[in-house]
Amino acid sequence: MEDKNRIIIFDTTMRDGEQSPGASMSLEEKIQISRVFDELGIDIIEAGFPIASPGDFEAVTAISKILKKSIPAGLDRHTKKDIDACHEALKSAKKFRIHTFISTSSLHMKHKLNKTPEQVIESIKEHVTYARKFTDDVEWSCEDGTRTDMDFMCKTVELAIKCGAKTINIPDTVGYTVPSEFKKIIETLKNKVPNIDKAILSVHCHNDLGLAVANSLAGVSAGARQVECTINGIGERAGNAALEEIVMAMKTRSDLMPFKTGINTKLISKASKTVSNATGFPVQFNKAIVGKNAFAHESGIHQDGMLKNRNTYEIMTPESVGVKKTSLVMGKHSGRHAFKDKLSDLGYAGVTDDVIQTAFGKFKILADKKKHVYDEDIIALVDDSLIKESNVINLKSLKVFAGTGEPQKAEMTLEVYGDLKKASETGDGPVDAIFKCIKKLFPHEVKLQLYQVHAVTEGTDAQATVSVRIEEKGKTTVGQAADTDTLVASANAYLNALNKLIIKREKTAPEEYEQERMKGI
Ligand code: KIV
Ligand code: ZN
Repeated sequence: MEDKNRIIIFDTTMRDGEQSPGASMSLEEKIQISRVFDELGIDIIEAGFPIASPGDFEAVTAISKILKKSIPAGLDRHTKKDIDACHEALKSAKKFRIHTFISTSSLHMKHKLNKTPEQVIESIKEHVTYARKFTDDVEWSCEDGTRTDMDFMCKTVELAIKCGAKTINIPDTVGYTVPSEFKKIIETLKNKVPNIDKAILSVHCHNDLGLAVANSLAGVSAGARQVECTINGIGERAGNAALEEIVMAMKTRSDLMPFKTGINTKLISKASKTVSNATGFPVQFNKAIVGKNAFAHESGIHQDGMLKNRNTYEIMTPESVGVKKTSLVMGKHSGRHAFKDKLSDLGYAGVTDDVIQTAFGKFKILADKKKHVYDEDIIALVDDSLIKESNVINLKSLKVFAGTGEPQKAEMTLEVYGDLKKASETGDGPVDAIFKCIKKLFPHEVKLQLYQVHAVTEGTDAQATVSVRIEEKGKTTVGQAADTDTLVASANAYLNALNKLIIKREKTAPEEYEQERMKGI
């Protein structure tokens, strides 16, 4: 029986989320994210905009093949070419959704589309009908919905449903609306569109005024039954409504919002970390639900209250979103078997023996250097070992001379396509010297867009995780690495980004890549 309070979660992290400047993800990262999202219980995964680029097409195709429960969706504009590409990319999935959109606000119709309202009406008729030839799961969106004349919106929604759209999405494209207004928009559609009961209403809110989650919930309270959102709230400009906030708000305040989702909330933290690692976008410390401090209690009064009764300052438990208390795991005497068991507990049951071997070797070295080895340290080690599996350039040794007075200098040995190469360089700081060494050993021209360091755990002996984002001819890649030595982590993070770039080059411009590769050897 259909549950009228079931909310469909439509995730657009890999489409709208990837539209955030600098958030591009590789195919492998998208596949990894999709697996986590599938497990998380997301109903619909918008995997990309297939016509937008060969990379998007490839990602939507690959994701459509691997999803077990979630339904893949692709976005397209109102052109047959877009819709064909979307269908082509999705068609290997048992069930898929075609999401087609056109602007309906006067501003967009006139200045962006250069179309009259009548032409937009014609376009809806033609393209929703066309999309329905491929599937009965067609979603139609009126871009800039919240700045659209209400009567016109009702007319377009009625038409889209008549042409076969089963989901009608109302985007607050520019994050302009407020909860009371958005609620009214959804209510008006419910009351005025005669065939509205033939479709599910969906909301898609951007966060320009920091209201995306509040607006989405207002839409749900007025009758919307699908929410479009992204993990960590990433997306165009200020982002989209954050999935974790929507889901946990409904779960925590079920007294006021008696809605259900299919999300296994215990996997929220894992999904957040996976997306943050892939995009290189850190999660702000005080971010609701998934921020580092979301469940931290610093003040004495709060800590005292928590010890007496957790409910005093905790409205949901960290465990409910998969945040485990930092736990001391193992010491230097722990064996390989215990290490393997620990990996299983941490969700790495499927990693290869090679990765376990490499990570175990690193764990032994770390346990010698560091007093306490925590779960987070083990996660960083395994992630680092997984990254290295496919590298064609690897760091063999690094010596850095840093401090006051002298120019900072790095001496480095790299393995480049199997050959050992050595170089030394001075730089404006040790990181600059390291990156110059890499450039000398493997000549390349990239722009460094981001370099950031995070401590994995607390204390001066903590491992550092370094993230690096580089850009070459519009292609960006993010590299990551962890080590107790921040400079070693910096070199490895840069190399990881470079290795990913090499894979991208190989796919998109193999001949050009061949020349670059020759220069590097
Ligand atoms: O924000 C928006 O209007 C969109 C649509 C394409 C759904 O992302
Ligand atoms: Zn959007």
